Amino acid sequence: MPAKVDMDKIVSLCKRRGFIFPSSEIYGGLASCWDYGPMGVELKRNVKEAWWKTMVQDREDVVGLDTSIMMHPGVWAASGHIDSFTDPLVECKSCHLRWRADAVEGKKCPQCGGELTEPRMFNLMFKTFMGPVEGEGSIVYLRPETAQGIFVNFENVVTTSRKKLPLGIAQIGKSFRNEITPGNFIFRTREFEHMEVEYFVKPGTDEKWLDYWVKERFDWYVRLGIKKENLRLRQHGKDELAHYAKDCYDIEYLFPMGWSELEGIANRGDFDLTQHAKCSGKELSYRDAEGGEKYVPYVIEPSAGVDRSLLAFIIDAYDEEEVEAEKRTVLHLNPSLAPIKVAVLPLSRNEKLTPLAKEVFKRLCPNFMTDYDDSQSIGRRYRRQDEIGTPFCVTIDFESSEDKQVTIRERDSLAQIRVSIEGLEKVIEAKLKGEAFDASTLWATREK
Ligand code: GAP
Repeated sequence: MPAKVDMDKIVSLCKRRGFIFPSSEIYGGLASCWDYGPMGVELKRNVKEAWWKTMVQDREDVVGLDTSIMMHPGVWAASGHIDSFTDPLVECKSCHLRWRADAVEGKKCPQCGGELTEPRMFNLMFKTFMGPVEGEGSIVYLRPETAQGIFVNFENVVTTSRKKLPLGIAQIGKSFRNEITPGNFIFRTREFEHMEVEYFVKPGTDEKWLDYWVKERFDWYVRLGIKKENLRLRQHGKDELAHYAKDCYDIEYLFPMGWSELEGIANRGDFDLTQHAKCSGKELSYRDAEGGEKYVPYVIEPSAGVDRSLLAFIIDAYDEEEVEAEKRTVLHLNPSLAPIKVAVLPLSRNEKLTPLAKEVFKRLCPNFMTDYDDSQSIGRRYRRQDEIGTPFCVTIDFESSEDKQVTIRERDSLAQIRVSIEGLEKVIEAKLKGEAFDASTLWATREK
């Protein structure tokens, strides 16, 4: 079943409406790097906030952390990334393009049909040098996952948080991977943001917790509006498990290029804590209650990409509808994710309407991410707000200064209700939380 929208349309909407631009565009761009514009940065913040709220704020058993991107090189030796964080690379002997061997069918270059070299293992970590002297002794790596910052702080967090196991430690932050074949817009890039929890449990309870987290994470996407039929679970085969994993499930989404990984939930066993204990010489274990059993915890890891989730949210929300014989492009984003919650739109730019419209804007913006727009026709302004997924538009018309009322127009149903300016914040707050748009107060049905 192909996805309903192709990626070109998504890339174009993202550029046109200020979600995502090619990085360094005026210099011709930089492969696989992207910049988030005014709408993109809000959406990204909202994705991260929704994740943090569910994974940290709403729970008793998870705490947060923010660790440095560059870490002691010993971390990456212990974690196995220096030896095993590799992809098989082949190069075309004619055009010299490089490919991931497992992404190429047969022995010919997909670009020019030339002969390919034998695969060699290519390490995906970016290297740089710390301090003014470049040499073997000053090599540091940009982290390829945020997880290791959590493992090396396990002892610090357990001691200071005074929490008992099972305990999760959550982190959101940038990761870097020198991917051989990045692409599909922001799906696979060389710089991206991770949202990861390392959930430490007693050995023997790990399988139960893996099932728990797989379900929790699947439900999170559905609660935020992704259609269930566009999501599926896939367990990794033994031959594809990462070097640290005992078991792993991918939540896959039906992206325009087909079913692809959205998030991985792995059972990392005691691999990481055991390795760091061995290589650092510091004991990393846990003792149950007073004088209880001592053990090295197992770890369940739900690991998601901010950028990839954001892409899935946009694709799933994207729709083209016909409204009164005209095409309407709309993002049916969950209101909590929408970059702008409410747009204030005076019917026209007019000296009678502007002061009241500005007053309404000033009332709303401390409470909600609010846009003010008085250029072009009202119809075009509605279309723009639809395309960026704004759930509510507030229109100020010539009667507003008389009756102190405004019209709220809802993005999905296009229904409109008339409400008093006095109670506007309360109404919008309730509607954002999901209160129904009351049909009995329907004022007009469709706008021009
Ligand atoms: N710590 C475990 C880990 O990093 P992963 O499956 O390699 O596991 C987890 O990555 C998630 O991070 C992926 O499901 C994806 O959402 C995101 N991700 C990984 N590599 C990415 C890349 N090159 N570009 C964008 N997102 C990426």
